[in-house]
Formats: sequence, C-alpha cells, structure tokens
Amino acid sequence: MFSHSAAKTSPGEQSSEALLLRIFNDFAINVMSIPNANDLLWYVAQNVVGKLNFVDCVIYTSNLDETILTQAAALGDKNPFGRSIINPLKIPFGQGITGRVAQNREAVIVEDLLHDKSYIPDTKPARSEICVPMIFGNRVVGVIDSEHPEPGAFGQTELEILTTVAAMTSAKLELLEETERSARRYHDLVDAHTRLTREINNRKALEAQLFEARRLEAIGRLSGGFAHDFNNILTAVSGNLDILDEVISPRDPEVGECLAAARTASKKGAALVRSMLAFAQRAHLEAEVVDIRELVDSTLDWSKRVLPDSISVRIHLSERAWPTKIDRSAAENALLNLIVNARDAMPDGGRIDIRIENVSVMASDPEARMLQLEPGKFVRLSVSDTGTGIPEHQLQQIFDPFFTTKPAGEGTGLGLSTVFGFMQQSKGTVAVDSKIGEGSTFHLYFSAISPM
Ligand SMILES: Nc1ncnc2c1ncn2[C@@H]1O[C@H](COP(=O)(O)OP(=O)(O)O)[C@@H](O)[C@H]1O
Ligand SMILES: [Mg+2]
Repeated sequence: MFSHSAAKTSPGEQSSEALLLRIFNDFAINVMSIPNANDLLWYVAQNVVGKLNFVDCVIYTSNLDETILTQAAALGDKNPFGRSIINPLKIPFGQGITGRVAQNREAVIVEDLLHDKSYIPDTKPARSEICVPMIFGNRVVGVIDSEHPEPGAFGQTELEILTTVAAMTSAKLELLEETERSARRYHDLVDAHTRLTREINNRKALEAQLFEARRLEAIGRLSGGFAHDFNNILTAVSGNLDILDEVISPRDPEVGECLAAARTASKKGAALVRSMLAFAQRAHLEAEVVDIRELVDSTLDWSKRVLPDSISVRIHLSERAWPTKIDRSAAENALLNLIVNARDAMPDGGRIDIRIENVSVMASDPEARMLQLEPGKFVRLSVSDTGTGIPEHQLQQIFDPFFTTKPAGEGTGLGLSTVFGFMQQSKGTVAVDSKIGEGSTFHLYFSAISPM
C-alpha cells in the first residue's frame, strides 16, 4: 500500500498502487541509462524525496573492504546546496544506525529516535528514521537512509519502497562497476598488445642487425684468410722483382718498363691486401692517445685538396672531446674515406658537417643493442652530407668489400669496408643514417679512455 505516513502529500488510495508501479517502472527505465555512479546516487536521492515523497534521503556508499560508509548523495532540508557535498560524512561499519544496518545487512526502522542511544543527530535532530542496506551479491555496497521530524513516520510500506529502490540501485551500481572493470581490462589488454608489438619489432630489428653482423664476420673471415695467403704470394712476386731488378743490367729500356709495370701491379695488390686485412680486422694497428678534434683538423688540412669549392665544411664541437687510444693514421684514413664518399654523393655541391660529441652508452640504451656496443664512454665523430642519400636496400651492403655504385675505375668499394673493419678492431663501431634526397650521416664511435 502506498499510503505511507512519511508522505508529504498522499495520493488517492485506489490509484496509489498503480501509481507506485508506474513510478518504479519509470525509475527502472531511467536508471538504465545513467552513465556513472555519482549521477545514479543523486538521481535516486532525488526520486526518493521527489516522486516517492520522503522528506529526506541520504545515500552512503561503502568501501571495498566494507569498513567505512561515505556520504555520497543527500537531499532534503539538511542539504539545501544541491549536488555538492563539501565534507562528506564518514561512518564506520557498526557505528550508529546506518553503520549497524551496513554491518548487519538488515533494514531498520526506528520509531522514536529520542529512545535510541545510538542515534547520531546532525544539523537538525529528527524523531524517526528508516535505513535499508544496498546489497549486491555478497557485498554491502552502501545504505539508503531517511529521517522524519515526527515519531513513527515509517512503516511496512516505506520499508518495501526503499528496499525496492535499494535493490535496483545496487544492481545498477554493480553493473556500472563491471562496465568500468571491463573497460579497464580492455585498456590493459590494448596496453599489453602495444608493448608486445613494440617488443616484437625491436626483436626483429635486433635479429636483422645480428644477422648482418654475422654475415660481415663470415665475409671478413673469408677475405682475411684469402688476403693472408695472397700476401705471401705477393711477397714472393715482389721479392723476385727486386732480384730481377738487380741482375738485369745494363738496362734494356723495354725490360725496365715491364719491370716497373710489374712493380706497380704488385703495389696495387699490396694495397688491396691491406684493405682486405683491415676489413677482416687483421690490420696491424698501433694505438696512441688521440684527440679527435686534432685528428679532424689535421685530416681536413690535407683533405681540402680533394674537395671542390662548391662543398663547404663545418666542424661542430660543444665540449672538449674525451681522449681516445687508436691508430692515428688508420683513423685519419677512415675520416678521409667518409669525406670522399660525402663529396661523391654531392656532385652539385653541398655541405659537410663534422660533429664531435662525447656519449655515454648504457647497457639499457636501445642504441647499445642496435649498435652492439659494449656499454661505456665513446667519442662520436659524425660526418653528414647533403647529398643523394642511400636507398634502404643498399644500406645492408655498403660495408661489404667491393660493393660500389660508382662507375668502374672510380670506386673500389673498399672504403667503407675498411672503415668498418678498423672501427670494430678498435672496440668501436660505425653506424649510418640516411634519407634519400636529404643526405647521409656516418657515425664513428671511438672508445674513450679516462682523461689523464
Ligand atoms: N655519403 C654517402 N652518400 C651516398 N652514398 C654513399 C655514401 N657513402 C657511401 N655510399 C655508398 O656506399 C658505396 C660504398 O662506399 P665505399 O665502400 O666507400 O666504396 P666506393 O666509395 O669506392 O664506392 C658507395 O658506392 C655508395 O653507393
Ligand atoms: Mg669510398
């Protein structure tokens, strides 16, 4: 029956039950579309006081541990400020009427608060109170509470109404939580997927890098063995040429010419052997302490001759470079190789930027893994050009011995392979960045020694 005594106004007896059903029906439909818990609780409080005719309504929600109730929505005389609860009341489970209802999970009607010792009056003491728990599954999600200035204002009808409201509200609350949980799960899943994709891509790049390193190592071993044997043959050839030179006299000009040509050829062969031994990391290196800045200056001094006026050179150095211990002439030769390549990539002129930087490579740096560098301190010498750039598919090949895109007679394809071998043998490495039409940058990583 809907003739509850807490009603401010009482609808006609006959239609009251039908009216109540309609109110609940509307309530259920509206509740379905409410998107969040806060809106839901305020909507419920509004309807308890509004359509359901209670004089006030306070809703508390409980924490996950079910130890504390927190005021979440309040409507009626006590809260004239609308939807803002500046300092929400917190009540421990078991304390006061609401706390007891939450703990015992049973609704309570207090006929006269004057006789209830556990009543905690707030702004305006009331005489009667009704409080029902909101339970879902195994959890107390909160309580709905209403007070009345008159004693004995609440009966069975009010109990039924509030219990129905509490059931609908807690079901919706649970639904909202589940929605939020699955949104979170979805989010976590997307995160995990993104991480995994990144890992896989990293891994693929690393595998490609490793494959590349192994491939170069294999070619290196092969050409190293070959160069070594070939060198022995060349030694025999040039030794015998020396002997011939001495025994053939007086000189026959024609024989002399033949001898000179043979000697030139054997010198070329020796240079070839040197390049291949360098690539195979079997060059004879003599390390000394070298300041990379000085090395750049001296190399530029004599390499200017190979650069046309249409190409300008700039040096960038922000701090004193850490010292390195390397073979000076091999390092000069490496830098010269990069400068000559940069020149060849800029037939119409352009700019060469030489940058010297101190870099600390940590084990965790992706750079360290990609470059297969032992963690430590390095002086990075970078040579950038504004030339043609290198096509992606050629980047894998440029360090191979004899790989060249230059016309026969112009390129030997031994420049970068020598640079690669020398850098590896010196406990450093070489890396390249390039963009078609924009230019290329070659980075030489020289292992630094602690300053003296
Ligand atoms: N700075 C650069 N810009 C564009 N391509 C380059 C550059 N450096 C090297 N290359 C490419 O790498 C190839 C191999 O270089 P290298 O080993 O020095 O041999 P070579 O200079 O004799 O061709 C070059 O033929 C060229 O295709
Ligand atoms: Mg070259």
